Amino acid sequence: MKNLKKEISEAARILFNTNRAVAFCGSGVSEESGIATFRDPGGLWDQIDPMEVGTTEGLIHAMEKNSDKLKPIFEGILSSFEKVDPNPAHKILAELEKKEIIRTIITQNVDNLHQESGSINVIEVHGNLFRMKCLSCGVTKGYERKELVRHTIEKFQKLADFSLSSLLSLAVKCEHCQNITRPDVVMFGEAVQNLNDSFQISRSCEVMLILGTSGLVYPAASFPVEAKRAGAKIIEINPMENAFSSITDVYIPMKAGEGLPKISDAIRLENG
Ligand code: OAD
Repeated sequence: MKNLKKEISEAARILFNTNRAVAFCGSGVSEESGIATFRDPGGLWDQIDPMEVGTTEGLIHAMEKNSDKLKPIFEGILSSFEKVDPNPAHKILAELEKKEIIRTIITQNVDNLHQESGSINVIEVHGNLFRMKCLSCGVTKGYERKELVRHTIEKFQKLADFSLSSLLSLAVKCEHCQNITRPDVVMFGEAVQNLNDSFQISRSCEVMLILGTSGLVYPAASFPVEAKRAGAKIIEINPMENAFSSITDVYIPMKAGEGLPKISDAIRLENG
């Protein structure tokens, strides 16, 4: 592998000299925790067609038509979310926030792992899988990830069948109005959360650190472009070249959990 010492120390130098960096994250950040990405080989969209299940109506239709096919996929997703923990990438991001280098994390991930590593200013543009939203009154409530997943798996195993009505019987009830809730995540065709804030933060940062995203899903994929247009330096860590390759100032072809600790060590050296 190419010696990336120059890129690592350049990224560290840029980060050391700012207190207005923003991290823009995708599923690659959680890959080393054991959560599959969407579009890499073996990723979620290799197992199920996003056109089939990516919308609420599509998902309901797919469950009515082909629930036996979906059952093992749902079980696999649930059990992966029960086992995982934050990895070094999540931890270093939290550390860089404490050092007042990173101001905000804008993440497309719904897995709550940034917050579990101690990051505070996290904007989840695609929602959070462990926050439930009432379909009737709209009230939201966050649940402890592992506990909610364990509880759901237990109920899952007791289901007589995997029909839509059985699945709806598993839904967490709203504590406010007792109607059913759903995970507060953004399905295709639904509005991205905190969009205006994310654009504003992207346009006013000095450095954007892009981690683990293919840059194929809009509007989130426009944030780095807006940051660059407004004059931010762009650092990217991703083992594969992707949609952002043409706008990066420093590109580090590594896994986030390998690259970020190296950058963090180099920042310590800059600190003397
Ligand atoms: P993708 O699956 O499209 O891209 C994952 C990216 O992570 C790829 O560029 C990989 O090269 C990179 N990657 C894999 N392992 C990595 C690692 N250990 N460290 C760093 N990078 C790594 O996933 P996203 O870009 O997150 O939206 O997908 C964006 C959106 O598409 C998701 O939020 C989701 C999906 O449809 C919704 O569900 C609304």
